[in-house]
Amino acid sequence: MVIRTAEFIGSSTGLAGCPAPGKPEFAFTGRSNVGKSSLINMLAGNRKLARISQSPGKTRTINHYLINKEWYLADLPGYGFSKMPFEQRKKWMKETGNYLANRKNLVCVFVLLDIRIKPQVSDLRFMEMLGINNIPFARIFTKSDKLSKQKAENNVKEYDRVMLETWEELPRTFISSSVTRAGREEILNFISELVNNYKKDV
Ligand code: GTP
Ligand code: MG
Repeated sequence: MVIRTAEFIGSSTGLAGCPAPGKPEFAFTGRSNVGKSSLINMLAGNRKLARISQSPGKTRTINHYLINKEWYLADLPGYGFSKMPFEQRKKWMKETGNYLANRKNLVCVFVLLDIRIKPQVSDLRFMEMLGINNIPFARIFTKSDKLSKQKAENNVKEYDRVMLETWEELPRTFISSSVTRAGREEILNFISELVNNYKKDV
């Protein structure tokens, strides 16, 4: 897929503020600092689209981008940041949970995982929650440039091993780097396929 246009549409604190669900939507989430904003900019081919932060946990709203006037990219607030006060975390669970369960045009959630970090309870729980609620998702292992190819593959294998203790099959998986742009074509082709199927369904 060639990205011709990528526009920021708006921010919302929950489902009610999201744009009308007239186009297929792909959501991106993961723990704070996983490289979500960097990946979104890398995919969109625009370094300034999503804000890249030095201090984790900046994204507190659902940010919508319209890509090629054809599909929505939703940047969800990251989860699992330890510094977030309990009340705020509860609010996040409620708002984002409601969005995930009820967003009608949501086609796939991309769960971002730092390829250097061992499986974390918060990520495993989040994916379990998606599974239980029948919300389709894929994994993207980020920051692959920080490891050798061999080490990266081993870490993914180890992640698979842990997931297969509870999952019958593994989700679609991508390995990316916003530095080398690895994974860009694969992820965009995957989205493109789903956008085309979505059109056929409607
Ligand atoms: P929050 O929105 O703050 O939760 O973070 P985020 O998940 O959006 O991460 P962000 O894109 O802001 O990146 C966090 C840090 O990781 C920044 O210092 C980035 O430069 C760095 N980073 C992100 N992606 C990559 C990558 O693929 N490779 C390398 N080497 N660094 C990366
Ligand atoms: Mg961010």
